[in-house]
Amino acid sequence: MFEGCVGASDVMQAVYRMTRQVAPSSATVLLTGETGTGKELIARALHELSGRATGPFVRVNCGALSESLLESELFGHVKGAFTSAHENRTGRFEAAHGGTVFLDEVNSVSYKLQVKLLRVLQEQEFERVGDSRTIRVDCRVVAATNRDLLDEIEAGRFREDLYYRLNVLPIDLPPLRERVEDVPLLADYFIGRYSEADGRTPPTMSPEALKLLMEYAWPGNVRELQNYMERAIVLCEGDKLMPELFPRHVRGLAPARLHRQAVKDPGMLCTELVELGMQRASEEATDMHEQIVSLVERELIKQVLHSCRGVQTKAATRLGINRNTLHKKITDYGLE
Ligand SMILES: Nc1ncnc2c1ncn2[C@@H]1O[C@H](COP(=O)(O)OP(=O)(O)O)[C@@H](O)[C@H]1O
Ligand SMILES: [Mg+2]
Repeated sequence: MFEGCVGASDVMQAVYRMTRQVAPSSATVLLTGETGTGKELIARALHELSGRATGPFVRVNCGALSESLLESELFGHVKGAFTSAHENRTGRFEAAHGGTVFLDEVNSVSYKLQVKLLRVLQEQEFERVGDSRTIRVDCRVVAATNRDLLDEIEAGRFREDLYYRLNVLPIDLPPLRERVEDVPLLADYFIGRYSEADGRTPPTMSPEALKLLMEYAWPGNVRELQNYMERAIVLCEGDKLMPELFPRHVRGLAPARLHRQAVKDPGMLCTELVELGMQRASEEATDMHEQIVSLVERELIKQVLHSCRGVQTKAATRLGINRNTLHKKITDYGLE
């Protein structure tokens, strides 16, 4: 019943159990977990396992639309409600009548729209934008967030009343690094899937490559693993997946890429960078400060040099450091 959902770890079995248990209810489910942990898969399973399975499953990515677009996407609008409203339009809540609406990235809904959302959750009713007629719908709401909503409440970006309304039945998807025993199962699953898609004999995983995959921290979780498996299978010429087929940072040869989401928020970016550095620093390290600061400094110099096309005087000016100092750092960090 959990189609396309692989994983036998205790933590995932607890997730499956909880999913089965709450699926038949009409109460709101809140899925939490980092990006790529499988929130959407579980949202679909909740729908498939419910009495609404024959009804529609409607997903709305709340993070992808501006406030006004999202409002008319969710609730619909009437002709003339705003300049570009040339026709009446049915919203996604209406489209999901009798089924499930999946509000992905619900943490991105604006404060103003959160009020309207709260009302749908409480009263199952709303008005289309520009209309006074009240519409009643019967749909089950499943929401997902990749941010801690309690932090968002504290920062004044999320309404507490809405949080309690959403959080009736919480299900937390654990990050992949906390269920490494699922990595071989997932890898096999993706080998099967992508080999079949390309009509080729499935290669086997070398023990060396598997070891790397099990040691890697997977900031992008299953989605990241899926991408690397696809890539490795396309590039594989023999019948074994060797470590060379995986990206350099998975092999510990280059700093990991950061989440795209983090780029929006310099604070989060620094947090992640430091966390990453801490994972990388050896366990007994007593020079963590130096190790991490060096990691950041090296990358900064590298990028600025790149943007100045290697002209050191220019890079020194941009960085606001002395040219000789820069020269020495370039040598120290092996950036020639
Ligand atoms: N347990 C799993 N088994 C198989 N594939 C998975 C699993 N978890 C996630 N995936 C795959 O990883 C990708 C990201 O999953 P998704 O549900 O979109 O994550 P999220 O919504 O948490 O970002 C999808 O392609 C999904 O099919
Ligand atoms: Mg998602």
